[in-house]
Amino acid sequence: MPGLMERYRERLPFCADDPVVSLGEGTTPLVHAPHLSELVDSEVWLKLEGLNPTGSFKDRGMTCAVSAAVREGAKAVICASTGNTAASAAAYAARGGLTCAVIVPEGKIAQGKLAQALMHGARVIALRGNFDQALTLVRALTDRQPIALVNSVNRFRLEGQKTAAFEIIEQLETLDALCIPVGNAGNITAYWKGFAELDVAPRLFGFQAEGAAPLVLGKRVDQPETVASAIRIGNPARWEEAMEAMTASRGMVRAVSDAEILSAYRLLAAREGVFCEPASAASVAGLLRYGADGAARVACVLTGHGLKDPETALHQAGGVIPCEPNLTAVEEAVLG
Ligand code: F0G
Repeated sequence: MPGLMERYRERLPFCADDPVVSLGEGTTPLVHAPHLSELVDSEVWLKLEGLNPTGSFKDRGMTCAVSAAVREGAKAVICASTGNTAASAAAYAARGGLTCAVIVPEGKIAQGKLAQALMHGARVIALRGNFDQALTLVRALTDRQPIALVNSVNRFRLEGQKTAAFEIIEQLETLDALCIPVGNAGNITAYWKGFAELDVAPRLFGFQAEGAAPLVLGKRVDQPETVASAIRIGNPARWEEAMEAMTASRGMVRAVSDAEILSAYRLLAAREGVFCEPASAASVAGLLRYGADGAARVACVLTGHGLKDPETALHQAGGVIPCEPNLTAVEEAVLG
């Protein structure tokens, strides 16, 4: 499959001879979720964005942002990140021959994401502060230095990410509601742009973690906390646009607890066979807590792969069973 810049070029701000930095992103599976459908009494679909090249939806935006940076002659890119943007920026920068620096909150990003950013050769800076502080600092830095900022404040990120909305409508034709986790609020803004370009308007149900829910509270959260480290954000950059999208779609922004996020995370893995990261499960946690609200067909965006965060998984799952190397012991271990 060609990457999304080739598939959707006529809907993106790029010309035929512009440089394309791609890893074949997009075209992710949208799978029916029979168990969830039964639980909420509507037809539920899961958009598996963890199947993008670096394991998250960020690749959709990053192919566009890094391609635009190359087109503009940039030699370096930078982002603040809770992990996935860092991994994606590092990979696309490596692919495009650019240097990359990422600023992440120290000790607060999942191991898989850290391993990716380091392996791709990014300069990884662990900030003694949170994501919101990191974003403020990189914005100030890129005002002073000729480095391209590839956070979702970069408009090319949203252009790329809107293509997920195209794919959902191509497959389902109609959609009544979209459930989506909200952190820095770029992705929900991008989906709304994508739907609007197709002239469709599913209701947008955005979900934040209770300890990091500025949009729900209507005010900044200075010390956001949640097990879903990817959405541990207290002052989203796309705040107004996200609220506008939810209002215009007759949607809602609501909070889910860490316990609800973890319960949805386990249920997705154990009952639907889908392993996503905790932040992604916020979309399903929200659907389970608040219901489909009359929507007959719902898509939940599972933003990142479960392998991104092995520590949380091992913490949540049952332990392994030790066993001696003989048949009786194995039989006992297998049959319980
Ligand atoms: N889900 C995952 C797995 C994420 O990594 C993020 C954001 C979101 C949801 C929320 O998306 O910010 O567009 O509202 N991660 C960013 C990062 C902040 O740095 O990787 P959003």
